[in-house]
Amino acid sequence: MPRVRITRRMHFCAAHRLHRADWSDERNHEVFRNCANPNWHGHNYELDVTVEGPVDPETGYVMDLKQLRDLVQEGVVAEVDHANLNLDVDWLAGTIPTTENVVVAMWRRLRKRMPAEVELVKLVLWETPRNRAEYSGE
Ligand code: NI
Repeated sequence: MPRVRITRRMHFCAAHRLHRADWSDERNHEVFRNCANPNWHGHNYELDVTVEGPVDPETGYVMDLKQLRDLVQEGVVAEVDHANLNLDVDWLAGTIPTTENVVVAMWRRLRKRMPAEVELVKLVLWETPRNRAEYSGE
């Protein structure tokens, strides 16, 4: 049976600040630049979720994309959309919300929610149209 990868793109808006409390303001600005601004800033994120599995001979689907959409929406997007990633999201607490850290945290949440017959194979989190982080697990 052919195994195929399918991808759903999700969208959310969120605020954040890249900052370490144990560093001076000067060091934070040196490392994180504008992303260290004390009064937050936002991004329009895109999240590409790729799953792989056998093509069901009856439906021709690997997975209903509506089901994938709902699962990603409930599992991660609803919790980060229009939220402050530093303050509002318990599964990001204590992490600097870089694209890298957020994509790993999302992977850990989504992997547990996948139906048995499909495998989460890649997440791509776009912070801007030019910057993205990819993760395919440990
Ligand atoms: Ni930023």
